[in-house]
Parts: sequence; structure tokens; C-alpha cells
Amino acid sequence: MENSLKNKKIIIGITGSIAAYKIYELIKLLKDAEAEVLPVMTKNACYFVTPLSVEISCGNKVLIDMFEESLAHIELAKKADIFLVAPATANIINKYASGIADDLLTTTLLAFKGPVIMAPAMNWRMYQSPQLQRNIDYLKSIGVKFVGPEQGLLACGEEGPGRLASINKIFETVLSTLTEKDLEKENIIITAGPTRQYIDPIRFITNRSSGKMGYALAKIAKRRGAYVTLISGPTAIEPPEVDKFIRVETTSEMLNQVMENINEATVFLMAAAPVDFEPKDFSKTKIEKKSIKSIPLKLCPDILKEVSKLKNKPFTVGFAAETGLNTERAKIKLEEKSLDMIILNDIMQKDRGMEADTNEVLIIYKRFNKFIEEKIPLQPKEKIASIILSKVKEIKLGK
Ligand SMILES: Cc1cc2nc3c(=O)[nH]c(=O)nc-3n(C[C@H](O)[C@H](O)[C@H](O)COP(=O)(O)O)c2cc1C
Repeated sequence: MENSLKNKKIIIGITGSIAAYKIYELIKLLKDAEAEVLPVMTKNACYFVTPLSVEISCGNKVLIDMFEESLAHIELAKKADIFLVAPATANIINKYASGIADDLLTTTLLAFKGPVIMAPAMNWRMYQSPQLQRNIDYLKSIGVKFVGPEQGLLACGEEGPGRLASINKIFETVLSTLTEKDLEKENIIITAGPTRQYIDPIRFITNRSSGKMGYALAKIAKRRGAYVTLISGPTAIEPPEVDKFIRVETTSEMLNQVMENINEATVFLMAAAPVDFEPKDFSKTKIEKKSIKSIPLKLCPDILKEVSKLKNKPFTVGFAAETGLNTERAKIKLEEKSLDMIILNDIMQKDRGMEADTNEVLIIYKRFNKFIEEKIPLQPKEKIASIILSKVKEIKLGK
């Protein structure tokens, strides 16, 4: 299940950083994903957020005092699936690296045997101190995961590395840590979004593709352990964290980047909607409105066709956005472009395809020379992405 933390118990350790107020948004995301959130605060964290509001947002008693409930540190450490310290002060990182256990949070951390994630937040001077850097390196070497900090304007008014990572990034790190890495062996190239074909320096032809489906595939593939290269046309949404992110604008640029990276790939998911025709002539200067009578067009390069000509092409998946569920056209595309699978969706229906957050698709592939069609009902694009990736894995293994 995507974005689900059902039955997962997460200790959230909150420490004395000015960024502590951001924690409510993270707690909400964890709760919305059905996790049980077990809050532990340091005494100094109570200067920044109140235990009462943390307790109410988590729906669980907040623990602060080591001696209030004897053995709470061991009980907590035994039952949790993951320990997240956010925000993590320089103090807690240094203490954890040295094995200090002088309050409930540090003692529980030391007793905890599962995955630990730390999201540091502090002034850049503290972050760059050699002591802290040495301790972060040490903690990474024993398997502690760090998310952030980010570069930017800090609470003290200075600029530098030290901002708490975005709440979405911290949430994604928790999800990723708890997700089985079943695509670890795959190197996946994903294209996403539309392209632009310029008429003159300010006008272009494009389409309604938002990039949401391709970005969802990239996010889930990365979460499941694949090495992900995302080649994206212009989009208005934030790209997910991947191994290699390449921004392109035109169909030719997208083709060049696909060709440059495809030798390494085991899977190629062509989720982008590159524009397939462009103006015959490009005007270097802005075209006078009155002088336009028509815009003659020519075909753009066909990326899937070019990939199909490769000798050792990866497992290739095409996407067909059609007005109506035109399965015959999709099957012809699958054959003509030597695809291993095609994902068809009907863009004429509400809440499906381009721009929507949800989709309903038909997965088409061939087995023993026969077409197989599998309908995936309407659901969020991240769930559709996960189903597509599982199908790719299944068919690729069976090939
Ligand atoms: C207004 C204020 C803001 C602070 N913000 C941070 C911070 O963002 N990160 C940090 O490492 N320390 C920060 N400190 C210092 C910590 O609160 C201090 O090191 C404290 O001992 C941390 O305790 P704890 O790690 O047990 O919560 C701040 C202190 C003050 C007074």
C-alpha cells in the first residue's frame, strides 16, 4: 500500500530547536498514513513546543521524564518499528554518537535496535563544527540515516546549511526506510511531463501533461530501491528525490538524454507526453501577429521508436493517453514500437489521466503471443505507479 504506515509504530523524538514547531505537520502526515506516533521530548524541547499540543496531535501520551514511568525507555525501544528524531539538535546528535544516555530520549535511543532517522536543524556555524561533522559521519557509518539539513535562510537571520529538511522529505524518508527494496537491482529511466516546440522565442506548442504520473513512478521506484533517472519536461510540480534528475524542454532534448542514459538502464518507462509535431520553421524573432496565416508543421522525433531500434534495449513500457479506451490502437503501438508493455488511459473521463491526481488504466502486454489486458481501477497515481512497477517486475522476471 502506498503512503500507508498502517500497524507501524514510530517514535518521534523532539529536541530543543527553533524548528520544533514544524513537527505538527509531520505528525499529521504520519497519522494520516495510519502510523501510531509515540512522542518523546527533551526537557529543552518544551521551551519550543508544549507537551500538551504534541500529545494531542499524536493522540498518545508524550514522555519526557525518565523517572516518571520506570522502564518506559525499554518498553518504547522494544515496541517501535522506527525512531525519528526531528528536529535533531547538535546536542542530541553529539550525545547519541557518544552513547550518552542522560534523559529519556537519549536512553531510549541507545536502547533502540531498529532504524534511526535524524533530521538536523541548527545554525550553520553549529552544523559545520568539526565535532558535529565527525559525529554525523560516525553515525552514518553505523547505519543512522540523515535527512537534511537544507541550505537557506535560518531562524537567526543568517544563510547557510541548517534548515530542517522539508516535512515531505522527512515523511518520504520514513516511508522509504520501512519499504521493502524489491527493485534494488533495477536501473530505471523514467520520462515525465510534456515538451515544448517553439514557434518563435516566446511561443510554443505543448500539451496538458502535468508530469504527475511520471513523478509518481519515479518516487515509488526510488522508494522500492531502484536507481532512478528522471528526465522531465517543464512541470509545475516539485520533482521527487531521485538519483539523477534531468530537466529538458524540447522533444529532441528528451530524446538525446534518453539515448545518453539508456545503456545503463534495465527498465525504461516512457510516461512523458512529448509533443509529436513542431513548426516547420522556427522564427528567431517574435512573429508579427498580422503576418501569421498558418503554421506549417512537421513530425518530431519519436523517442519510443528510436529506443525500439536499440540492440540491447531495456524492458520498455509505453503510455498511451487516448480519447476513449482505444485498445486496438494501443496494441498496434505496442507491436510497432516493440514495447514490452503499454499503459492505456482514457483522458476524456473525469479524474483520470493528464493533470488529475488519480488514474484508471489498462495494462496491456503479450504472453505466449496473446494480448493480455488488465484493468486497474481508479485510484491515486502513486498506487497506480506501484501496481505498474510490480507488473514490470513480474513480467520482466518471467521473460
Ligand atoms: C532560541 C533558541 C533556539 C535554538 N535553536 C536550536 C536549533 O535550531 N538547533 C540546535 O541544535 N540548538 C538550538 N538551540 C540550542 C539548544 O536548545 C541547546 O543546545 C539545548 O541544550 C538542546 O537540548 P536538547 O538537545 O536536549 O533538546 C537553541 C537555543 C535557543 C535558546
